Amino acid sequence: MNTKKIGIDKINFFTPTLYVDMIDLAHARDTDPNKYTIGIGQEKMGINPITQDAVSMGANAALPIISKEDALLIDMVIFATESGTDYSKSGAVSIHKLLGINPFARCIEMKQACYSATAGIMMAKDYVTLHPGRKVLVIGSDIARYGLNTPGEVTQGAGAVAMLIAEDPRIFSIRDETVMYTSDIFDFWRPTYSENAMVDGKFSNEAYINFFETVLKEYQSRYSLDVASLEALCFHLPYSKMGKKAMANLLENVSETTKERFLTHYEESIIYTKNIGNIYTGSLYLGLNSLLDNAPSLKAGHTIGCFSYGSGAVGEFFLLDLVDGFDEHLLTAEHTGLLAARQLLTVAEYEEVFSEKLPTDGSTASLSSRFDHAPIQLVEVTNHQRHYDFVGESKE
Ligand code: COA
Repeated sequence: MNTKKIGIDKINFFTPTLYVDMIDLAHARDTDPNKYTIGIGQEKMGINPITQDAVSMGANAALPIISKEDALLIDMVIFATESGTDYSKSGAVSIHKLLGINPFARCIEMKQACYSATAGIMMAKDYVTLHPGRKVLVIGSDIARYGLNTPGEVTQGAGAVAMLIAEDPRIFSIRDETVMYTSDIFDFWRPTYSENAMVDGKFSNEAYINFFETVLKEYQSRYSLDVASLEALCFHLPYSKMGKKAMANLLENVSETTKERFLTHYEESIIYTKNIGNIYTGSLYLGLNSLLDNAPSLKAGHTIGCFSYGSGAVGEFFLLDLVDGFDEHLLTAEHTGLLAARQLLTVAEYEEVFSEKLPTDGSTASLSSRFDHAPIQLVEVTNHQRHYDFVGESKE
């Protein structure tokens, strides 16, 4: 059994090359732009070209953080998604091949709305505890689709976060104490015959807040947590205002100093979400990336409280401790570059890209997109099979 700290050794995110500006979308939907930019808190929405799906986005997120040495030590690839492309075969198997991970590995796909990457991390931690020296790759990757001209449209997005879970982690260690909570509700769901999610929007907001308050209260009573001892809170972010709404009651009951600290870090944690939108399974971890890259006051030893939520619904509250030297292992410049290189679409172009379809009759489509500059792309669909490859450059 491993007695060392275990946690997030490396972390990275990917979002596709396209976006729509929320002010343009508001005008096209005959809505006051302030509703989108202030009321919902979104500035840009990431859009995936036809050459990016959940699998290719997940592979692109993991590519920069998996070294040849890691590929030999990874025993498990956990692919968390609610945008899976196959009822049977897991996207993890395709990602395993694309990243050159050793063949003696376990590959699975996990689902529970936006929550399952957290389950993946916790399972990875347990695995590494029992198998010292081994590593697990956890990826959360999704395309949030509510449909054109729907209330949920403003909370769409696309992207993936990849995390390597290992002992003696370079970024965060994960505390053993955690509180999970499940209740069978219909706040958001997607029947297998529907491309777009169905949502009871107001109820989903209420359920999210209720789950946050429930798991936090339980955590405080089980483990005597003083929230003021936390440096920051990080939230699953379906849109950038959601976490702030959830902590409103909490902020009434803490000192002004704590309130100010939580609010400052909250703003630092939502920068990427504001510019990308909801990425479902990866959203909490996109928030963590944003906090790491944009919070100059973070220090080793600081503890971050994390709230994970997946409609349907499962929630979890857990703590991450920043480790010595974490700031030397962030990919901040790469993240800035990724967002800066994106291309703005008009609303008409976005609607066209959104409505593109892959063949479902077994015919062959060779795919390419003038918009896509990502190294790994979906290049062909043939005989009902999706094929991915490196485009433009090789992994070498
Ligand atoms: N200027 C500034 N703010 C404005 C505004 C304006 N002109 N018009 C509306 N707003 C505010 C509202 O007051 C509201 O703020 P509040 O939530 O703090 O009260 C916010 O904008 C949203 O307005 P609302 O009328 O509630 O929007 P909506 O009915 O179109 O739905 C969602 C919003 C989030 C419910 C909807 O986008 C959705 O269903 N999204 C998908 C589900 C989801 O993300 N759920 C989250 C939990 S998982």
